[in-house]
Amino acid sequence: MDVIVYGTINIDLVAYVSRFPQIGETLSSLEFKEIPGGKGANQAVTVQRLGKQAALVGKVGTDSYASFIKKVFVNEGILTDYVYSSPKTATGSSIVVVDESGQNFIITNQNANKELTKAEVHLSLETAQKAGAALLQMEMSVEVANYIISSLKHLNIPIFLNLAPVVPIDAQIRRLVDFLIMNEVEAEQLTGSPVTNIEEGKLMVKELLEQGHEHVVITMGNKGAIIGEKKMIQHVPSPIVQTVDTTAAGDCFCGALVTYWLEEQDLLTATKKAVAAAALSVTKKGAQPSLPYRKEVEDFIKSIIS
Ligand code: RIB
Repeated sequence: MDVIVYGTINIDLVAYVSRFPQIGETLSSLEFKEIPGGKGANQAVTVQRLGKQAALVGKVGTDSYASFIKKVFVNEGILTDYVYSSPKTATGSSIVVVDESGQNFIITNQNANKELTKAEVHLSLETAQKAGAALLQMEMSVEVANYIISSLKHLNIPIFLNLAPVVPIDAQIRRLVDFLIMNEVEAEQLTGSPVTNIEEGKLMVKELLEQGHEHVVITMGNKGAIIGEKKMIQHVPSPIVQTVDTTAAGDCFCGALVTYWLEEQDLLTATKKAVAAAALSVTKKGAQPSLPYRKEVEDFIKSIIS
């Protein structure tokens, strides 16, 4: 088993609209779809499609969405031994609205996700011990996230934390992770300083490295990503693509980063490939349907180079 992913499992209720509505306005969608999503699930699917074995730790309900989503995981080949079921709470869901430029806003209903317990996480640690890396996001209780990070640290497994959404996690716990990944909006929420361009992104990475983080990655949408470690801070640009839907682009990036890092043990090389994977993901609609397979990423990278 290569990557253990801790995180949310959702059904995305997606409305595609010509434009976002104004406050108080009722707007008809152009199209509506129910799509498997959730940051944890999206990241696990990415790892799997890029050729590594993922195990997912999370919780769903016992409703029809849960059965649908679990079948998806089995088809993808994800290890689901630690996908728990809550008998009393609905599967997590997200209201996703995507406009014609591909931008979105998302409201999540955590539902069963928030019932994941420390005891359930504890059961997964035996498997985590055999993993090459662990990946988590913050759509869970801070207490459970703290427990995951501290436990993985004891097991000496490289930890990739996607600080999405930004929650008041203790800075000491945050510094225990090996790779801190967030987007430019989350970086601003964390530090209070704006990240509107590459230079501000580099300054932010520098600041976080000075605070004691070992490796920092700030994703910047179609501008690519800024990475930093030791004395290196670098901008990795994104290839230009036709954006259809940005949902799960960040998840695709995180899943790809950990996958390629496991192969190369090199942040810069892994980031270049992850940026390409994420760029590909925005050319397709939906969370999991947009996540690319390894061959697609390889062909895309070749086409950019040639
Ligand atoms: O990052 C995108 C994901 O965030 C969606 O699939 C949604 O379910 C939320 O978890």
